[in-house]
Amino acid sequence: MSLLEVKDVTHTYGSARSFLPIRRKETQVLSNVSLTVEQGMCMGLIGTSGAGKSTLGKVILGLEKPKKGQVLFQGEDLYTMTAAARRKMRRDLQVVFQDSYSSVNPRLTAEQIIGEPLDNYEKLSVSEQKRTVAQLLEMVGLHAEDMKKRPGQFSGGQLQRISIARSIALKPKMIVLDESVSSLDMVTQTNILHLLQELKNEYSLSYLFITHDIRAAYFISDAMIVMENGRIVETCYDKNDIFTSEQPKVKELVASILPEHPKDRTITGR
Ligand SMILES: Nc1ncnc2c1ncn2[C@@H]1O[C@H](COP(=O)(O)OP(=O)(O)O)[C@@H](O)[C@H]1O
Ligand SMILES: [Mg+2]
Repeated sequence: MSLLEVKDVTHTYGSARSFLPIRRKETQVLSNVSLTVEQGMCMGLIGTSGAGKSTLGKVILGLEKPKKGQVLFQGEDLYTMTAAARRKMRRDLQVVFQDSYSSVNPRLTAEQIIGEPLDNYEKLSVSEQKRTVAQLLEMVGLHAEDMKKRPGQFSGGQLQRISIARSIALKPKMIVLDESVSSLDMVTQTNILHLLQELKNEYSLSYLFITHDIRAAYFISDAMIVMENGRIVETCYDKNDIFTSEQPKVKELVASILPEHPKDRTITGR
């Protein structure tokens, strides 16, 4: 059984602005999307802006019920499961969004932010929880003393580390990372990608790594899927197959990261 199975998902957004039913226009954002993610693997989901990546991410997180199709997490349908199963699923399936400044409450301390999932699921004693938060901070390359700080006192990269610490607090099976490193500078991006890689190996985590950045996806992913206009246009179970794809959109993406001079176009140059 695959950890995650998306089966033939189709989704539309209605136009909320129009109140006349007759003029309401539905835009198809996802068309017959199917994919699977196995335990311990990182699936890169790439595509240009507006391709439908975040919508698919929301569908997979159980936040946006698709018009058609199924999402199975550990074999269970996300949208028909019992409340108890859903609660368990929420613990095993976490998310890190792009911009942590807007996805965390600026008034909370790092301790409260990272402690929130623990409050919900673990019911630790005050001292146990503090110890756990301190460990989580160390795991993502921050320090125990940082737990007293609030979001405004961290850099973008540090705050992304806080979000990652929160996402791993409950030892999930899978994390959806939606443009999680996209707004960071190159050096910080690389550092966070390495951190994600280490955490993945250590806890055999699975990632759905959503990005418009083929380089970042290539670095961290085992397999890659390319989306365009709500459809999957290429699936590479071995990420290196991306370089031999005949799909025009994929060729375009790949060409954008190749060095200018053909003589430099080696594997390492990629
Ligand atoms: N809540 C929404 N209501 C209506 N349209 C939406 C909504 N969210 C996204 N869209 C539209 O769906 C398409 C796909 O968006 P999105 O999934 O965010 O793409 P991506 O993450 O690949 O950039 C876009 O055309 C976007 O404008
Ligand atoms: Mg997006």
